[in-house]
Amino acid sequence: MCGIIGYTGSMQVHPILINGLTNLEYRGYDSSGIAVIDKNGEIVVRKSQGKLNDLILSLDSNPIEGIIGIGHTRWATHGEPSHKNAHPHGDCSSSITVVHNGIVENYREIKAELISDGHAFKSDTDSEVIPHLIESQLSLGFDLKQSIRNVATKIMGAHAVVIISKDIPNTIIAFKKGNAGGIVIGETQSGMMIASDLTAIIPYTHQVNYLEPNEIAYITPNSTNYESLDGTNLEKTMRSIPYDPISAVKGQYKHFMIKEISEQPEATIATLGGRLSFDSPSVQLDEIPFSELHVKDINRVIFIGMGTSYNASIVGKHIMEQLAGIHAEAENASEFRYNKPILGKQTLVVAISQSGETADTLAAMEMAKAEGAYVINICNTEGSQSNRLANATLYLRAGPEIGVASTKTYLCSLEAIYLLALDFGSKTGYLDQHQVRESLISLSKLPDMIGTIIANNNPYIELADKFYRKTNFLFLGRGINYPTALEGALKLKEISYIHSEGCAGGEMKHGPIALIDENMPVLAIAPKDHLYNKMMNNIAEVKARGGTVIALATKGDTNIANIADEVIYIPAIEYLLTPILAVVPLQLLAYNIAIKRGCDVDQPRHLAKSVTVE
Ligand code: M6R
Repeated sequence: MCGIIGYTGSMQVHPILINGLTNLEYRGYDSSGIAVIDKNGEIVVRKSQGKLNDLILSLDSNPIEGIIGIGHTRWATHGEPSHKNAHPHGDCSSSITVVHNGIVENYREIKAELISDGHAFKSDTDSEVIPHLIESQLSLGFDLKQSIRNVATKIMGAHAVVIISKDIPNTIIAFKKGNAGGIVIGETQSGMMIASDLTAIIPYTHQVNYLEPNEIAYITPNSTNYESLDGTNLEKTMRSIPYDPISAVKGQYKHFMIKEISEQPEATIATLGGRLSFDSPSVQLDEIPFSELHVKDINRVIFIGMGTSYNASIVGKHIMEQLAGIHAEAENASEFRYNKPILGKQTLVVAISQSGETADTLAAMEMAKAEGAYVINICNTEGSQSNRLANATLYLRAGPEIGVASTKTYLCSLEAIYLLALDFGSKTGYLDQHQVRESLISLSKLPDMIGTIIANNNPYIELADKFYRKTNFLFLGRGINYPTALEGALKLKEISYIHSEGCAGGEMKHGPIALIDENMPVLAIAPKDHLYNKMMNNIAEVKARGGTVIALATKGDTNIANIADEVIYIPAIEYLLTPILAVVPLQLLAYNIAIKRGCDVDQPRHLAKSVTVE
């Protein structure tokens, strides 16, 4: 999704902008650009379509001298990915330049009006109306601040907008309306920075401030003034953010995705660390301030999320009901936000989002809060928008996840859900001390078990060799591993572009079975649980129709090898934790197949790490 960077200070700005944009590449983009106020006071814009490298080459051969500038990586919504549609965009007189995240929902009407007033547009984007609108407000006699405030009122939708103007050549102005991605402002030794994402500025500073919806910031090299969009002064103080930039680099790994899969034992330790208490068996979740009375008052838990986080939500429903005995549901956040759900004070909404910036999830959280529900956020990104929206946040502490495919954050989300449900189950008395202790013991075995699966990539390389030319895949699972089937299919399709479907085992006969033939590999998730025999029936049905079965089974299950064509084993663990182990082989399979097909696993086509538009 689009990325924003800006700097005003005493250093040459273009290398800082490029460095920032490079750190934002993982969000996904199709074009990029920067605007710098040069030593003559003119705004110079450079853009390129495709990878950032072209922009870097153009600047290397023809650098721009200047100490204030803004930059952007674009992920097309309105107007094709192209040079002319790349940001920054300017007004007619090249006095104002803007980068923008969000969608100007009423841009067609605004653009028509501006064109009839004589404004000339260079792009097909909705964003370009912003600089022209500012220009038109200035021509009506408003000063720059008031013009920008008027524009913020006129444009519909959610926006993060960053502006430079020739008339105030040391100031960056930024405003935020609704939730269209974050804006973080950081104080460095040589000046001030602004970005859509902490990753872009953390190499320069840990002292940051976040712009909230309906706020505007005036950023000069030495200070930042904040106002609300109605012009009221705001006091905001910088805060210190911990972050480890070293772990954001690939190290010895070929791709971030395999690095992040390999980090899962460590990430699990970070998620569980300090939260398990064996003395009087319990879970310590300091961030979730729920008393026994409060937990007993909850009569419904709704898990929401998108993509992988939605799959985690479905697992969450099973875990919450079975560990805490509280009725639970899972909803896709983009559906939930518009479905007029019945909510209230006794409803707990658990919003899962590794990035904390997913537009649909943020909107669903806002709606749930407005309806009186308590909202807990399960998130990996400190300081993200979802943290600030939620009543409380349970952090994954998984470390930065750069690959577009969620891997370690999925695993850690499941662990965080388990901790929450275990806490609730022990507080309501649904679980006795013995059961809590048993659960803690199972949790503490996870890092080692995950490590055992990851240690041997060879079976997945061999499977990839056999199956990488296939064009379709079916993933089957039941019970708590139905969402594992969905997640396995999502991982494979998003990085290898092989069409794959996740299906509940019981659903197969109701349609999908028609697809089975020798060209449709079926990955059957069949651990030794109460649904094992049912899965074995599914496998038999696939085999009877000439299908090829890759079974994912519990270590020691030799029986399954007699019927399946291939078997992948995972260690035995309690039922509710099986999705945590079962997903790891599916990640490795998807990764190896995608590599074999020559795909860009870290930045798959058309995808973005955080989906900040609806
Ligand atoms: O940051 P979030 O967890 O809210 O992201 C939600 C989805 O966009 C994300 O899980 C997406 O489906 C990933 N590409 C899956 O690997």
